Amino acid sequence: MTFKLDNFKKEIKENFGENIMEDALELLKGRRSIRKYKSTPVEPDKLEKCLEAAQWAPSASNKQPWEFMIVTKEEYRKKLADLHPYGKFVAESPVVFIPLTNPTIHAKYHQSDTALATLQFMIEAHSLNLGTCFAGVIGTDFEPKIKKLLNIPEHLHVLAIVAVGYPNHSRKSSRKPLESLVHRETF
Ligand SMILES: Cc1cc2nc3c(=O)[nH]c(=O)nc-3n(C[C@H](O)[C@H](O)[C@H](O)COP(=O)(O)O)c2cc1C
Repeated sequence: MTFKLDNFKKEIKENFGENIMEDALELLKGRRSIRKYKSTPVEPDKLEKCLEAAQWAPSASNKQPWEFMIVTKEEYRKKLADLHPYGKFVAESPVVFIPLTNPTIHAKYHQSDTALATLQFMIEAHSLNLGTCFAGVIGTDFEPKIKKLLNIPEHLHVLAIVAVGYPNHSRKSSRKPLESLVHRETF
């Protein structure tokens, strides 16, 4: 008899209920930046789950200094790809998620809060077998052009454009060794 992980998980859920938590490490380590996409559309309910994941990110004083855009029209995706020198893949991904930061809500932490929300979106997407790739925008000379293209209000910043869709390649990545990064008790 072969061991089937999916059947095993199903059995666990049947016996212990839906609320059983799994360690997130495997999921976190398995996420890769995806730069090639299938044309398969993203199911709207999956997209809503990703947005909900972003909504539930932590933020300083729970101020939630963010707004989110979803862009699917090919015309806009192609123009975004033209404007972003390292984000050409958004012409191919069926969806672009655009996190906006609002410094009028939290002047100090608008960027870090919105970055956390964006990562939550990306992790949820990965858990649903969707690929993503973050392409940074905030502070670049093309940020004003992206704002103009999408009619984004003056007071908001564009943190990034994030491609979303079904992966059409698989990638490996690496990280610096933990021992070179971690300092315990004192530096
Ligand atoms: C702030 C930030 C900006 C990034 N900008 C780009 C970008 O412009 N284009 C791109 O292809 N990837 C971009 N990335 C993705 C990184 O290249 C990627 O996360 C890194 O190489 C590690 O690969 P992995 O995500 O597959 O583990 C960015 C990531 C971050 C966090």
